[in-house]
Amino acid sequence: MKKLQYGILSTASIVERFVRAVQSTTHSDVAAIASRSLQKAQAHAQKLQIDKAYGTYQELFNDPKIDIIYIATPNEHHYQDIKNALNQKKHVLCEKPFTLTSQQAREVFQLAQEKQCFLMEAQKSVFLPTTLAIKNYIQTQELGPLLQIDISSSYTGRHPEGHWMNQPHQGGALIPSGSYTIEYLNFIMDQPADHYHAHYTQMTTKAIDEVSLNLKYGNVLAHSFISVKTNTKNTATFFFEKGYIDVFEFWKARGYTVHHWETNTKTHYPLPVDYEMMYEVDHLYECLKEKRLTSPIMSPQATLTCIEMVEAIQKSASI
Ligand SMILES: NC(=O)c1ccc[n+]([C@@H]2O[C@H](COP(=O)([O-])OP(=O)(O)OC[C@H]3O[C@@H](n4cnc5c(N)ncnc54)[C@H](OP(=O)(O)O)[C@@H]3O)[C@@H](O)[C@H]2O)c1
Repeated sequence: MKKLQYGILSTASIVERFVRAVQSTTHSDVAAIASRSLQKAQAHAQKLQIDKAYGTYQELFNDPKIDIIYIATPNEHHYQDIKNALNQKKHVLCEKPFTLTSQQAREVFQLAQEKQCFLMEAQKSVFLPTTLAIKNYIQTQELGPLLQIDISSSYTGRHPEGHWMNQPHQGGALIPSGSYTIEYLNFIMDQPADHYHAHYTQMTTKAIDEVSLNLKYGNVLAHSFISVKTNTKNTATFFFEKGYIDVFEFWKARGYTVHHWETNTKTHYPLPVDYEMMYEVDHLYECLKEKRLTSPIMSPQATLTCIEMVEAIQKSASI
């Protein structure tokens, strides 16, 4: 297959990390970037060594050289941006959270089928070598059966008041970041949670700023704090019969530490990588090579299950 040509939608802060990840591969490249401002697009194109810069999003959708659009716009725009890209017959990788409602997600996955285009939520956590290593410990029972999971993630002080990430319908802790925890756990456990419930607090804008999630996967209980107000350990801990494994910053993990109860010893296994998004970029290339329209890992169902959970929690918070 020829090199995959990406078009980047927006000059969001996440864009540089994604572009560097694509550029670090041998199979994909970034051909163009679009912004609502030509000046911003040109500045980013120069900084990130991208050939073309567009001052409108539509020009990117229309560019015949672009195979796939990476969407990194505010969360409430994802739905319309996905539709705009698909309607120009572009494959799409859309940043998490995929869409704000499950109805929107169903609609765009249906449209992708109609247009015969690939569509996937950008959920890098499920493609990381560390994630696969943890899943392997669970499946092989090398440390005995998995008994419990304790997981926390915090993203404090990232956005000033007034930033769209503080708006209740598209910001806070749950909507932007809940998918890291939920999709990561559902992937690791090979099934969606059988039961879950949540407690939360809200900021003055009414956006959920901290959520405490209790989930049940068969006989395994999991607890997760997701916060934009309290710094947490940002660690996922998997408790097994013979020890436990710590994963620091599980959503972009670069290794893990195994603790053995019996010998009271620990071993760190580093898995360094320059750009952690390259694993999802590799996966996407493989999917397109195999002419798939959806990912078998970050599947439409995986995305829908997560959005439905977030919707249920939001409903209980009257958002
Ligand atoms: N996977 C990850 O690791 C990760 C990490 C962080 C964020 N994200 C996701 O990536 C997306 C972008 O997040 P971010 O924090 O990087 O965004 P950001 O820095 O706030 O940038 C958002 C961009 O969207 C464009 N935009 C279009 N309409 C806009 C509007 N009405 N108001 C503001 N901006 C508008 C702007 O680009 P132009 O001005 O160039 O048009 C802006 O730069 C979100 O969906 C977020 O959840 C993912």
